[in-house]
Parts: sequence; C-alpha cells; structure tokens
Amino acid sequence: MAARHVPLFFASFLLLVAGCAAEGPSYSCSSGEKVKCQALAGYVPENETTYEAIKDLFQVQSLFALYGANNLSTSTAPSTKVRGGNAVRVPFPCACYNGTWTSDRQPIYKVKKGDGLYDIATTTYRNLVVYERIAAVNNLADVNVILEGQELWIPLPCSCDAVGGLETVHLAHIVEPGSSVAAIADQFGTTEKTLLELNNIADPKSLQANKVLDVPLRACNSSIRSDAVDGSLRVPNGSYALTAGNCIKCSCSSSSWQLACEIANLTATNTSACRAPTCSATTSSGRTISLKLGEDAPSVCGSTRCHYAGYYNTSNILNITAVPVTNQSTSPPPAPSSSAVDLRPLLASLYAALLLLATL
Ligand SMILES: *[C@@H]1O[C@H](CO)[C@@H](O)[C@H](O)[C@H]1NC(C)=O
Ligand SMILES: *[C@@H]1O[C@H](CO)[C@@H](O)[C@H](O)[C@H]1NC(C)=O
Ligand SMILES: *[C@@H]1O[C@H](CO)[C@@H](O)[C@H](O)[C@H]1NC(C)=O
Ligand SMILES: *[C@@H]1O[C@H](CO)[C@@H](O)[C@H](O)[C@H]1NC(C)=O
Ligand SMILES: *[C@@H]1O[C@H](CO)[C@@H](O)[C@H](O)[C@H]1NC(C)=O
Ligand SMILES: *[C@@H]1O[C@H](CO)[C@@H](O)[C@H](O)[C@H]1NC(C)=O
Ligand SMILES: *[C@@H]1O[C@H](CO)[C@@H](O)[C@H](O)[C@H]1NC(C)=O
Ligand SMILES: *[C@@H]1O[C@H](CO)[C@@H](O)[C@H](O)[C@H]1NC(C)=O
Ligand SMILES: *[C@@H]1O[C@H](CO)[C@@H](O)[C@H](O)[C@H]1NC(C)=O
Ligand SMILES: *[C@@H]1O[C@H](CO)[C@@H](O)[C@H](O)[C@H]1NC(C)=O
Repeated sequence: MAARHVPLFFASFLLLVAGCAAEGPSYSCSSGEKVKCQALAGYVPENETTYEAIKDLFQVQSLFALYGANNLSTSTAPSTKVRGGNAVRVPFPCACYNGTWTSDRQPIYKVKKGDGLYDIATTTYRNLVVYERIAAVNNLADVNVILEGQELWIPLPCSCDAVGGLETVHLAHIVEPGSSVAAIADQFGTTEKTLLELNNIADPKSLQANKVLDVPLRACNSSIRSDAVDGSLRVPNGSYALTAGNCIKCSCSSSSWQLACEIANLTATNTSACRAPTCSATTSSGRTISLKLGEDAPSVCGSTRCHYAGYYNTSNILNITAVPVTNQSTSPPPAPSSSAVDLRPLLASLYAALLLLATL
C-alpha cells in the first residue's frame, strides 16, 4: 500500500514545482519530441460565417473533420451558416516546435492590404493566438512590418500531453467575459483543480476574459494499434471522427469511454472500396462465428465485441483491421487461486476444532 503512494506523492511534488512558474498555460514540451496529435481550437467567430469559410481560415484537412469535432451530421451543407458568437471546435494537428506545443505549420495566413499583426491575432483568429507568437515563429524582425501577400504561420496553442493518465484531447478555449473556472470545468466535464493546475493559475479569480485556457477533454479508449496509419487517433467525448479514407466512423460517448466504430457508409465515398473487417469469436456452445465491426455476441466468459483496430495502406490498398475483445464483466470468472489460499486457514482451524472435539 505504502509503495503505491510514492508515485502519487512524487507527482504532486512535481505539480508544486510547476506551480511556481508564471501564470498561464506553459504548453512546453521537450524538443526533439516526435509525437504529433490532434488538438482543438474553440473558434468564436465575430460575425456570421459558414463551415466552409472556417475550414478555409484554419485549413482543416476536411469538412468531415470539422463536422466530426462538432458532432454534426456528415450530410451538413458546407454553406451552413454559423452565427457570430457561437463557438465552433476546429481540429488541427499539434506538434512540438522549439520546446512549445504548437499547431503543426498551419494554418497559413496570407497577408491582405491594410492588415496588422495585432488585428490578425485578435480579429481574424479571435485571440486564439497572441501576435508576439506569430512574430516569433515567423522570425519577423519588426512586428510592425508585414507585407501584402506574405504568408504567415499562425501558431495555435495546443498540447499532446495525457492528463490524469487518461486519453486526452486538448481544447484551446477562449474565456468569455463573466465566466469562471468552475463554470468552464463543469461545461467540459473536468474539474476546477485540473484546470488551475494545467494553466498555472494560483487564484481562480485571476481568470482573464478573451485569453486562451487549456481545457483537457477526455477521449475514448480504443483498440487501434499504435503502428496503424491512424494509430494516434483520439476522439473526445461527444464527437466522432472519420478514418481509413472515410470508410470508418468512430464515435466516443461518455457512457462507455470505449471508441465505437462502424462502416461510415457515406454517399460521398466509394463504399465498395471499403472492405469491412470482421472478427471471429467462439460462442459459449463452442461454435466459431464471424462478427461485424461493432457487433457483439455472448461468448464463453462474457461478451465478445468486434473492435476497430486501425488501418494500413500498402500499395494504395487499405487494409482495415479489427480485433475481438472479450468483456468478462457479465459473468464472474472462475474463482481465482488467491481465494483458495484465503480458505486454507479457515479449513485448518475447522480441522483443528474437529480434532479437539474428537479428543474430548
Ligand atoms: C465583423 O463585422 C464588422 C462590421 O461589419 C467588421 O468591422 C469586422 O471587421 C468584422 N469582423 C471580421 C472578423 O470580419
Ligand atoms: C527557440 O527557442 C529559443 C529559446 O526559447 C529562442 O531563443 C529561439 O529564438 C527560438 N527559435 C525559434 C526559431 O523560434
Ligand atoms: C461528456 O460530454 C457530455 C455532452 O457533451 C457532457 O455533458 C459531459 O460533461 C462530458 N463528460 C465528460 C466527463 O467529459
Ligand atoms: C482505458 O484505458 C486505461 C489505461 O489503459 C485503463 O486504465 C482503463 O480501465 C480503460 N477504461 C476502459 C473503460 O476501458
Ligand atoms: C452526437 O450525435 C449523435 C448522432 O446524431 C447523437 O446520437 C449523440 O447523442 C450526439 N452526442 C452529443 C454529445 O451531442
Ligand atoms: C494510401 O497511400 C496512398 C499512396 O501513398 C496515398 O495517396 C493515399 O492518400 C493513402 N490513403 C489513405 C487513406 O491514407
Ligand atoms: C448504408 O446506406 C444504405 C442506404 O442508405 C443502406 O441501405 C445500408 O443498409 C447502409 N449500410 C450500413 C452498413 O449501414
Ligand atoms: C469503387 O471501388 C471498386 C473497388 O475498389 C472499384 O472496382 C470501382 O471501380 C470503384 N468505383 C468508382 C466509381 O470509383
Ligand atoms: C493487414 O494488416 C495486418 C496488420 O499489419 C496484418 O496482420 C494482415 O495480414 C494484413 N492483411 C492483409 C490482407 O494484408
Ligand atoms: C460488458 O458487456 C455487457 C453486455 O454486452 C455491457 O452491458 C457492459 O457495458 C460491458 N462492459 C464493458 C466494460 O465493456
């Protein structure tokens, strides 16, 4: 028992040390880190806009990625209007750049006539970035000198760190005026303590409006192999992602925390090119059956479900894989040997009592 407390104690010690740093999320990472992940930015447009325009502004890889992050139907029209003031979750790739987690070389903004660096940060990208960071990553000598047509990398803040030992997707959330750390924690299913620690905030009252707050969203566990093309896929609670060339749709719900994947069946995709994977399972009667993705069947010791296990892409042919996972929680497993050990002293004392009775 005592041994188990050591890592916990050590972790809180590390947090205390981190707490001495200046306030604000640090987003620091060790340089040379090869890890990349998906992150989210909570973009709150000032004026009415469309999903298509948001995709272009942030160079989101596909409209489906934008729809999935916001749990919108795959048949949503790109010209669908988004009202000003409404937050939209924008997915983007995150990587470690020069010791800081940053959007991976995107989005790229092309300077228009009359643009200033400060307005690009506050008006165009709605405070998701500070102009000093734009100047730093683009090696601008003078923050007042940007040229029409110049291409600027907009370094959005992000992180690939797991939080509390759980799969996590980080959201760069813009604090609304009048909001509180407790209310934000409640809204995103995290705790006030987690937000304060992650963002190096000593006093919750010092929360500043229109500043980025790093909000960790819990993601689902998955059976995807780390060596698969989509080995780093993380889907946060209440959203979905398309993968394997849009053949597979994976959703995450907080009722199970296990990624649920199925054939996406999009009209836009050639589904005959999506070869559906199956799993074989042994039923309680000893029969071997074939399970479709997401399907489950009662098996010897519980229930077996066919989970998506990632895809491989060799000579442009998608090899979509699945793995059967047996859940043993339905029927209790046979008594483990440890309980037999526990019975021995009892049997011994019974035997002794009997012996005692016999001698009397
Ligand atoms: C929103 O509309 C106002 C008024 O037309 C304009 O001044 C402002 O620049 C617009 N904001 C953006 C981000 O385009
Ligand atoms: C990398 O970080 C170091 C230390 O923070 C800084 O001096 C340097 O200018 C940065 N380089 C780039 C290209 O941003
Ligand atoms: C999961 O998502 C739901 C709906 O978006 C939200 O109400 C809930 O707080 C979230 N829970 C966690 C633990 O993230
Ligand atoms: C998710 O994975 C973590 C770590 O691998 C494990 O501790 C946890 O029990 C898993 N949760 C579920 C619901 O499978
Ligand atoms: C996401 O969308 C699906 C399908 O429309 C729905 O069943 C689910 O409840 C939605 N989840 C959330 C968190 O809104
Ligand atoms: C599969 O590989 C080919 C060639 O390398 C590439 O063009 C294609 O985009 C890949 N498909 C997927 C879904 O990763
Ligand atoms: C795919 O969509 C078609 C048409 O909507 C439907 O008939 C079919 O059952 C769907 N297949 C799956 C696997 O959902
Ligand atoms: C769809 O995919 C199948 C199998 O890969 C291929 O034979 C067929 O030509 C494709 N159809 C279209 C319209 O691309
Ligand atoms: C698909 O990939 C898996 C994992 O690498 C491999 O075991 C399997 O043999 C592959 N199947 C095909 C048809 O290439
Ligand atoms: C185990 O399977 C049962 C029946 O399918 C299901 O109700 C339960 O949620 C499953 N538990 C886990 C941890 O997957």
